[in-house]
Amino acid sequence: MLDEIAALSAEFDQALPSADSVASIEAVRLRFFGRKDGVIPALFTRLKTVPAESKRDVGDALNRFRNDIEARLKARSTELAEEERKRSELRNVIDVTLPGRVPVLGHLHPISIVRRQLEEIFREMGYSMDPGPELESDWYNFEALNFTPSHPARDTQDTFYVGDDLLLRTHTSNVQIRSMEKVRPPIKVLSVGRVYRRDEITLRRSPMFHQAEGFIVDEGIHFGHLKGTLEHVVRRLFSEGTKVRFRPSFFPFTEPSAEVDISCVFCGGEGCGTCSRTGWMEILGCGMIHPNVFRNVKIDPERWSGFAFGMGIDRIAMLKFGIPNIRTLFENDLRVLRQF
Ligand code: PHE
Repeated sequence: MLDEIAALSAEFDQALPSADSVASIEAVRLRFFGRKDGVIPALFTRLKTVPAESKRDVGDALNRFRNDIEARLKARSTELAEEERKRSELRNVIDVTLPGRVPVLGHLHPISIVRRQLEEIFREMGYSMDPGPELESDWYNFEALNFTPSHPARDTQDTFYVGDDLLLRTHTSNVQIRSMEKVRPPIKVLSVGRVYRRDEITLRRSPMFHQAEGFIVDEGIHFGHLKGTLEHVVRRLFSEGTKVRFRPSFFPFTEPSAEVDISCVFCGGEGCGTCSRTGWMEILGCGMIHPNVFRNVKIDPERWSGFAFGMGIDRIAMLKFGIPNIRTLFENDLRVLRQF
């Protein structure tokens, strides 16, 4: 039996240091002291069968063994409990020197970025801001702007009618009439907002999009002012080197009218896939305000003149940020929006 005790003592010496949790200590305790099949109680039971002459030695050895491992088990569990306590203390400690957590901030939508840029550029030039209504009557959207009754843009194909004389504005030019009815010249207004057209959705078109309309009414305004203003705006909006080209065009409410191209922002005018190898991209329509428009708002066209232009904000956002599909602007996919 002394051999057995020696063997068990060796086993214990091995088991104890590798017990590194309260649970594994308990397993060691059960192996040695377990009521049902602990080895120590079993040895004590068998002590009765040991011959009388060696009973004393064996009993001594057994007692020493039991006392020894009992003490070491206890010491080890105290140690473990202490370690555990320190660890949980560390977990709950507040490190006041850690940098604060930065709250997640929202991002401006690409269209808002362009809108704010435009507003800044025009505010610097003394323009005031007036978004105007999106629900409009025929007068402000068409008639006062010199659209003949049969002009194709009035066609229900293009316009969303909401009621008899109520429609979703097809352009921001309605603000020209609203402003000129409200205040007498000189006037300088920038209007940024949503417009609607009954168009199929394509890569470049959406039934709802955004326009910026700018116009000015004063004495002696001529086409040179229009050109100078737009050249300045385009260079601020894109880059200093951006070239601007005016092409004759037609709008019922301006005369003469022009469309404006800028040198392709992707290839710098060399010609690439995005500009259909022309080196140019169209970005806006403009012209000198038609005398009939002035007459419609009781402003004397002999005394006053003005220019107006309208540009697609979505288009500009797509060009500035290299967004190939207009839908990307309206899907509000956070993975996209977080990039701006
Ligand atoms: N309203 C025109 C459009 O929607 C653009 C424009 C505005 C043209 C002002 C001339 C002057 O296309």
